[in-house]
Amino acid sequence: MITREHCAALDAADTLAHCRARFDLPADTIYLDGNSLGAMPANVPARIEQALKQEWAHGLIRSWNDADWYPAPQRTGNKIATLIGAGQDEVIVADSTSVNLFKVLVAGTRMRPGRNVILAERTNFPTDVYIASSVAEMTGCELRCVDPDDIVAAIDDTVAIVSLTHVNYKTGKRYDMEAVTRQAHEAGALIVWDLCHSAGAMPVSLNRCDADFAVGCGYKYLNGGPGAPAFVFVASRHIEAVRQPLTGWHGHSKPFEFTHDYAPHPGIDRMLTGTAPQLGVIALESALEAFDGVDLDVLRDKSVALGNLFIELTDQELKGLGCTLASPRDAEQRGSQVSLGHAQGYAIMQALIARNVIGDFRAPDILRFGFAPLYVRYVDIWDTIAELKDIIATGAWNTEEFKARKSVT
Ligand SMILES: Cc1ncc(COP(=O)(O)O)c(C=O)c1O
Repeated sequence: MITREHCAALDAADTLAHCRARFDLPADTIYLDGNSLGAMPANVPARIEQALKQEWAHGLIRSWNDADWYPAPQRTGNKIATLIGAGQDEVIVADSTSVNLFKVLVAGTRMRPGRNVILAERTNFPTDVYIASSVAEMTGCELRCVDPDDIVAAIDDTVAIVSLTHVNYKTGKRYDMEAVTRQAHEAGALIVWDLCHSAGAMPVSLNRCDADFAVGCGYKYLNGGPGAPAFVFVASRHIEAVRQPLTGWHGHSKPFEFTHDYAPHPGIDRMLTGTAPQLGVIALESALEAFDGVDLDVLRDKSVALGNLFIELTDQELKGLGCTLASPRDAEQRGSQVSLGHAQGYAIMQALIARNVIGDFRAPDILRFGFAPLYVRYVDIWDTIAELKDIIATGAWNTEEFKARKSVT
């Protein structure tokens, strides 16, 4: 029988507990939505204020040089590289995940002439499928979508590129990146991994797995803030062959020579398109300091322990209340979230949020709980399950207010 005291003891022994102070979190709130929008690192406001009041207001345009604004996408990409198992100069910060996915899918299909299939997973986050569909139409390829368990069997010699998300947004199910990448390569295909739900939540080993491309966002576990710029990884062995379609001036080898013809930058900068959203890049760069000195294996151990605790407490406390486990029980197959199915999921989540326990809802019936190991505590899991039990058992969710759908769920 797990007790709250047991959870408090786990917090007392947690070697990452001190990292919570790196975030500005309201004291009365339990935040289990860092898989959607990460909490704000406490150092970010001062850095943004400096960027606004000194670098922009006083430095004006000189700050592109004097405050080192211009190389910030490369610098920030290099910081992210250390979290995702990439080398220096293989990652750059730019645009959104959707836009970066578009770039690498076009580049990948161009690198496999004679093959005309983009293979994707049916249950992937919709933007990944929408973008792949558009790329297929533009490049004359076929988009083939299959169920997650059928991916490996569907990789054949017609496939140019496989597009997968490492950890599924709804179920939290995690692919074996190394095995699937190997299968893609054995069939002669390339692979792109969407790391939206892995970067900053666990160690990722892009180069050890021999991945070709990866994309991911800056606003979830990387805590870069709402609408933070995204990142893109291209394995250095491919960089010379990559021709991405959005050939803006920042991807040019010499942008400030303003030449008429496009000549791609020799390195990862060729993945850039236009001017970086500088304040967003600065926020993301300073947010990444929250990872300073953090051992990613320890981070993963805590993430797994939080997820296991959530599942054990669901079994112990929520029996007979209509909840089903929608994530893998086996931690090896799970990312850093646990999803529960419930027919009244939307209203239950709204009732939870009204009690300052924040998760989110994904249609049709999924309650999502994300565990950002830098700031989530074991007692948060206990308290969340206790509130969930009370809300379902008493029917507190059953009000018009909680059932009314908001635009963002
Ligand atoms: C797997 C995945 N890919 C992409 C996105 C979003 O992409 P963008 O940053 O372009 O909005 C999300 C957002 O939740 C996601 O979960």
